[in-house]
Amino acid sequence: MAEIVGAYFTSHVPSIGGAIHKGLQQDPYWKPFFDGYARVHEWLAEVKPDVAIVFNNDHGLNFFLDKMPTFAVGAAPEYHNADEGWGLPLYKSFAGHVPLSWHIIEQLVADEFDITTCQKMLVDHALSIPFELAWPDVDAWPVKIVPFAINTVQHPLPSAKRCLALGQAVHRALQSWQGDERIVIIGTGGLSHQLDGERAGFMNRDYDLFCLDHLATDPAALTKDSVHEIVRLAGTQGVEILNWIAARGALGEQAAEIHRNYHLPISNTAGATVLLEPA
Ligand code: DHB
Ligand code: FE
Repeated sequence: MAEIVGAYFTSHVPSIGGAIHKGLQQDPYWKPFFDGYARVHEWLAEVKPDVAIVFNNDHGLNFFLDKMPTFAVGAAPEYHNADEGWGLPLYKSFAGHVPLSWHIIEQLVADEFDITTCQKMLVDHALSIPFELAWPDVDAWPVKIVPFAINTVQHPLPSAKRCLALGQAVHRALQSWQGDERIVIIGTGGLSHQLDGERAGFMNRDYDLFCLDHLATDPAALTKDSVHEIVRLAGTQGVEILNWIAARGALGEQAAEIHRNYHLPISNTAGATVLLEPA
């Protein structure tokens, strides 16, 4: 039977890609952030996942403001990286796990989630940067992926409660999967940040620490606020915490934190890295 080995959460700021490209991991600005990944590398080498279920958000590459699915699920054999405008290098393509994608999609629809199915999907920095951070210097990614794109961009956004429920439904789907894969759940984005408008540069350490303190043991606490309240607390792009909440749901009921790093600012964002294991 397939095993969920744990969950890896990380910010996905595009300039991390630039820092990796320039080898700035030991630079005083970047070091406190990159130091948080040594434990991630160690952990991934221990738990050896071969599939990743990735909850992230599209930044205008697949879906623009004119057509925006609330929840989109990839069912492609291959996902190519593309740059939606940050000038990042193009990263290796990602192999999809097509049968597992369809199993999850079928179970979600049976569970009354009205998702968008994508047999073609590009992936942007929200997926490539977390992978570059987790598996630096590999020739090919060691995991196949099933990517979820959650709308964190064009209002109305799904509620935090709905995102947690989506993740929990994905967890049930994984429990009825007959394969013997070792599955890692990945949630990307956040934490607090706002890139535009009057509050550009806004971050909120108190709210971030509230989210980090409750993620493992009481994720429902993160669903008490409306999406508009989360925008107020975390910033317009800080709502990417919805990806983390969905990923937390997919991990399963009981979880324990085994690693956390929090450092701000990274570009305009409070950078965070977390590892959870099923408890
Ligand atoms: C930044 C953060 C993001 O999550 C993103 O998608 C783009 C930019 C930033 O802090 O620069
Ligand atoms: Fe983002």
